[in-house]
Amino acid sequence: MHNKICEILNIEKPILQGPMSWVSTAPLVAAVSSAGGFGILGTAMATPEFIAEQMQAVKAQTDKPFGFNMAFHPAFLSEEYFSNIMTVVRAEKPAAVHLDTMRNKTRHFDLAFAKKYFALFHEAGLKIITKVFAVQDALLAEQAGTDIIIVKGWEGGGHITEQTTMVLVPQVRDILSVPIIASGGIADGRAMAAAMILGADGIEMGTAFLAASETAIHPNAKAAILQAGDMSTVITGSCADESCRQLRNSLAEQVNAIEKEYPAAEAAQRIQPLVFRSGRTAMQIGDIEQGAVMAGQIVAAIDSIRPAQDIIETVYSQCQKFLLNARDIVLQ
Ligand SMILES: Cc1cc2nc3c(=O)[nH]c(=O)nc-3n(C[C@H](O)[C@H](O)[C@H](O)COP(=O)(O)O)c2cc1C
Repeated sequence: MHNKICEILNIEKPILQGPMSWVSTAPLVAAVSSAGGFGILGTAMATPEFIAEQMQAVKAQTDKPFGFNMAFHPAFLSEEYFSNIMTVVRAEKPAAVHLDTMRNKTRHFDLAFAKKYFALFHEAGLKIITKVFAVQDALLAEQAGTDIIIVKGWEGGGHITEQTTMVLVPQVRDILSVPIIASGGIADGRAMAAAMILGADGIEMGTAFLAASETAIHPNAKAAILQAGDMSTVITGSCADESCRQLRNSLAEQVNAIEKEYPAAEAAQRIQPLVFRSGRTAMQIGDIEQGAVMAGQIVAAIDSIRPAQDIIETVYSQCQKFLLNARDIVLQ
C-alpha cells in the first residue's frame, strides 16, 4: 500500500492523524509520524508563537515529516495572521498544511481565495491537504491545486456537516483525479479496507487517537472516551450553523435545551458563553461535564489506551488482511 499519498507526504502508511485542537500536540504528532503515519498539529487559529513551539517540539522527537492545521476561509484568515504563520513555516519547515475549509450552510469553498493562498503555500514548499465536506468543494479544491483531498463524513468528531463518509467518498472518487483520504468513523482495519474499496487512497483518524498513550489530554477526558458507547455522541451548535459532534454531557444538554427553546439566531447568542473555549475546559482542565469532549461516533469502539504505533500498525495490518481476503469473503 505504498501509494500516491505515501509518495506525496513521504510516509510509509497512508494513515493521517486528524488535527485536534487541545489534543494533537507535539507528543502525539511525533509518535504518529515516527510510526510511519502522518501526524498533524491541531493548530487552527493558534498563535504563531504556539505553532513554532509545537513544531520545534515535534522535531526534537522525530525527523519524520509532519503537518499543521489552519482554519481556511476568508472569514477566519487575515493577511497579517497568514504572513506570521508563513514566517514560522519558513523557519520550521513542516511538510504539509492541513486546511479545514469550515463548511457550513452558508460558508462554501471560495475558489479565488484558495487559488491565491495555495500558490503561496506551494511556493513555501508545503504540500496542501484540504479537508472538505461536500462534493462541490472537493471539485473546487482540486481546481485550486490541492495535493490531497480529505473527504469527511458526519460520523466524525469535531466540526461536521450532514453527509456520511460512505456516501461522500465514492462520489468524490468518481470525479477527482487528486488522491483522496476518507475521514469520519474509521478506527480499525475493516473500516480502512472499506474506505479503500470505496475509492480512498488512505484514511484520517481523529477519535481513534484520543486514547493513545501519547495523547496529552486530561485523564478525565481519556476515561470518558473509554466509557463512551454507541449512543454517547450528540451534535451541538446547529443553531449557529457550526455543528459539532461531542460526547453527551451537562454542557451538551444545556446547549441543546437552548437550541430547542429559542429561535436559531437568539440561541446562537445564548450558547456563545457556554461553548467559548469549551474544548480546552474538557481536554486540558479535565471538566468533562462543563467542557466539550469532541469525539466521533466510533468512540464506542475505543476501549483501551495504546501507543499510537500500536494503533497504526494494527489498523494497517488488519486492512491489508481484509483487502487480501476480500475475494474469500465475497465467495463465502
Ligand atoms: C477532539 C477533536 C478535536 C478536533 N479538532 C479539529 C480541529 O481543530 N481542526 C480540524 O480540522 N479538525 C478537527 N477535528 C476533526 C479531526 O481532525 C478529524 O477530521 C475527525 O476526528 C475524523 O473523524 P473521526 O473522529 O471519526 O476519526 C477534531 C476532532 C476531534 C475528535
